[in-house]
Order: sequence, then structure tokens, then C-alpha cells
Amino acid sequence: MEKNNSQNPIESFIGKSYSKIGSELQNSHEKIFKNILNMRSIPNEPLNQNTINYILNTISNMDGNNSPNHIGIGEREGRIISNIVLNRNYGLVHGMGRSGNINDLQPKAVGSSLLVQLTNSLTKNLLHSIGLNFIDNIIILPFATGMALTLSFLTLRLLKPNAKYIIWSRIDQKTCFKCMITSGFTPIIINPIIINNDNNNKENDFELKTDIESFKSEIEKLGVNNILCIFSTTSCFAPRAYDDIIKLSEICKEKNIFHVVNNAYGIYCTKVVDILNKSNKIGKIDLIISSTDKNFMVPVGGSLIYSSNYDLIEKVKKNYPGRASISPLLDLFVTFLESGKEKIKFLIKDRKEKYNFLCEKFKKIAEKYDEKMLIPKNNKISIGITLKNIVKKAGNLNEKKDITEIGAMFFNRQISGVRIIARNENETEISGYKFKNYGCSCDEYKYLPYMTFACAIGITNDEVENFCKKFEKIIDEFIKNKNKK
Ligand SMILES: Cc1ncc(COP(=O)(O)O)c(C=O)c1O
Repeated sequence: MEKNNSQNPIESFIGKSYSKIGSELQNSHEKIFKNILNMRSIPNEPLNQNTINYILNTISNMDGNNSPNHIGIGEREGRIISNIVLNRNYGLVHGMGRSGNINDLQPKAVGSSLLVQLTNSLTKNLLHSIGLNFIDNIIILPFATGMALTLSFLTLRLLKPNAKYIIWSRIDQKTCFKCMITSGFTPIIINPIIINNDNNNKENDFELKTDIESFKSEIEKLGVNNILCIFSTTSCFAPRAYDDIIKLSEICKEKNIFHVVNNAYGIYCTKVVDILNKSNKIGKIDLIISSTDKNFMVPVGGSLIYSSNYDLIEKVKKNYPGRASISPLLDLFVTFLESGKEKIKFLIKDRKEKYNFLCEKFKKIAEKYDEKMLIPKNNKISIGITLKNIVKKAGNLNEKKDITEIGAMFFNRQISGVRIIARNENETEISGYKFKNYGCSCDEYKYLPYMTFACAIGITNDEVENFCKKFEKIIDEFIKNKNKK
């Protein structure tokens, strides 16, 4: 065998100049990775798959279980029997955290530890880039919004152990209610009030807004020391508007009450970002919770808790018992690199345009069917349309099950996300609490039945166009079928 005497063994195969080209190309991936580490920011442009794989492999190779010389004699040694599972996780099998602390570095898994810290930084930087400049600390968790809210309440309990109540502006989404019960608190439910944003049109009395006066009187009644927090919501189904976060923040500041904001899918809504900024400036926001799937288009399973209060987020981290799956965080990291920051910003801007497009299209449809659009001034994500005349044309239906059949027709035609809300004679029970007309976020609503749908990040023009076309087709078919019976 020919002996290799050169310093760089690659040179002995392909010569000095080719070897140099090869190593420069190899270094280009390394350079990009170093740049991300130095800048702590998502690159503006998308990375190609080779670079992403290089970064993931580099990180993964820092974990002990992936070393060819590894010997494991502990009770948890990252042994993965399935190669498909191993590959799906890029060999990052130790999760995040260490012996009881989710944020601690793991000596066995240096790469995973780096990934957690880096993704935290990238996410924080992204939040700054889209306008949430006040965020000082963040945690990425491997469970969805509801559990992150529960963890938030349980952390606040450590700081206010005698408080029993959470004051909450009703939003008819079960997670939002159950998280208070699961964490052992008594919810004080404030029904939203109906407002009219248009002085010239008496019929515009459809928007559901936070009842600030009731918040104030409940605080007086219960006493500040007995209240854990005010729990507000920024993203919800029309006709409910996002809560009056500014006023609630002011109340929280004045009374020194914790303020937890459910920002499940508000990160991509520029209006919500604006309001959060203002609220933080003039009032008090302690913890904000968002879903990773709804905001960043990754699989369900992750959430963010973030705040301007660095120490409070550290307390949330400390309060989490044990380790956690790294999977949702890894999905987020890969998505950030594959999208690039500019694309994320573009999607945010584009969604806003699609929302306006959807509203305009539907105004015409509503006119055709003599229905009313429910477009709240203070909700830039979800819109609704009444079904009063459609239901009349279909034979004056008044049974909830007949009306909600419309929803099934959409679903059967592969349209998901549509919600039909009809009057419900029966109360809905959730965790022992009873709600009238569950679904419309208040006990009585004048414009039932109605339908809502949302314009979320990533929606395409085709989806909007085809939904509008199919809406008319389905409604016509519904009216025809019902009249046949
Ligand atoms: C306002 C609001 N909060 C919370 C949730 C629940 O989020 P998750 O399923 O991520 O727990 C939803 C789900 O749609 C929601 O609309």
C-alpha cells in the first residue's frame, strides 16, 4: 500500500489544490453555524439542507451516546432500539434538563444542552425582531398551551400561596378553562360585554369585549390578597374580541396583581404584538404563553412562556419537575433555519393581507345570502358570518343538530377549521362548571346561529379562494337538501 506522508491525508488522494477546495466548502457550513452562534439570531435567508444537517450532526455528535467509544452503565444511557426513531431525533435522545431542572446543562448531552440554549436565544431574538422588544427571558416547553398555562399558575402559586382565585374573561375554548381547574384554582368567570363600534349603525352590536367594570368589582369583592392573577386572552374566535389587555395591565399594575396573558396564536398578529408592547409599557404583564405549532407551523406539542420579568421565567424553569422531551424544540430550531427570518416576517405580513382579502370576499358572500358579517374591530384573526337567513331558507331550522350539520358538510369536503355556533338549550358542563350557550363566549347572543373561521399564518390564496367558492356551493346544497326532506 502506498504510504501517506503529507500532513493532510486528503491531499494524498486528490492533491493539494483540490483538497483546499474541499476543505473550504466544508468550512462554509461551519462558518454559517459559527455565525448563528455568534449572532444568536435566525439567519435572514433559509439555509440549505446540507448546512442544516451539518449543524444537527455537529450538535448530535457532542452527545455522549453518539460517540463510537461510548460505554453506558447508568440507568438511562440513550439506547434507542429503533433506527427510525434514532434518525427521527437526529440522535438527540437525552431530552432537555437534568435531575429535576429543565434548564440545567447535561454533561452526557452537551450538544442537546447547546441546542436548548441556542434555540431559546433564537426565539427570543425573533420575538424582538417582530416587535416584542420587551421580552427578556423565555422557556420552550414540550407540551401545548394548556399545560404551559397550568405550569405558569402553579409557579405563581409559589409566590402567592394563599391566593385562591383567577379572574378570567370568558372564552369558550375548553383548554383555557381547564388549565385553571387543573392547577387547583377557583375561576371567577367574567362574561364579555357586547359592544357596538359603529355609532352610525345600530345593527353593529355584535362584538364581545372585556367587561372591565366587572373585573374591578370582583377585585374589590375578593380582595387583592386572595387573587392569584388576572388571566386574559389575545387570540380567540370571532365575535369575541381579544381582551382589553391594556386596561387589564393597568389594573394589574395599580393593584399589584399578577397578569397572565394567553397569547396562544397572537405572535403572528401585528395588532396583538402592538397591544402587548403598549400594555407592558404602561401596565403589568407577568407571563405570556404561546403555542409553537399555531405560531411557527411546527407539529403540535410545544409552547413558549416568556416575559420581561427575567427572574419570574427562571422560577418557572425551576418549578418544572424533571427532564423534558427536546422534540418540539428541535422542530422549532430546524424550522427557523429552514425558513430564515425574512420568510417568517413575510408570512406575518402576508397573513395580514390574506385576512383583508378573506374579509372582502366574505362581505360580498354575506350580501348575496342576506347575512351579516361578524368582523370584530378588535380581532384580526377570526371572522364570522350569521346563518339566520340561510337557516330560514333551509326550512326555518331551529334544532342545533340540524344547523350544525353545515359544519359536517364542510368537514366532509375536506374543509377544516369552520365552527358553527347555534343556540343550545342545554348548558355545557366543564369540570363541574356550567356554561350557557357554550361556544359563543357569553350566555346570550343576539346573532346566533353563526359560523366562524380564521385566517392563520401560512394560509394561501388558493385556500381563501376555494373556501369562498365552496362556501356558496355547500350552503346552496344545504338549503336544497333541507327543503327536499
Ligand atoms: C385561545 C386558545 N387558548 C388555548 C388553546 C389551546 O391550546 P393548546 O391546544 O396548545 O393547549 C386554544 C386552542 O385552540 C385557543 O384557541
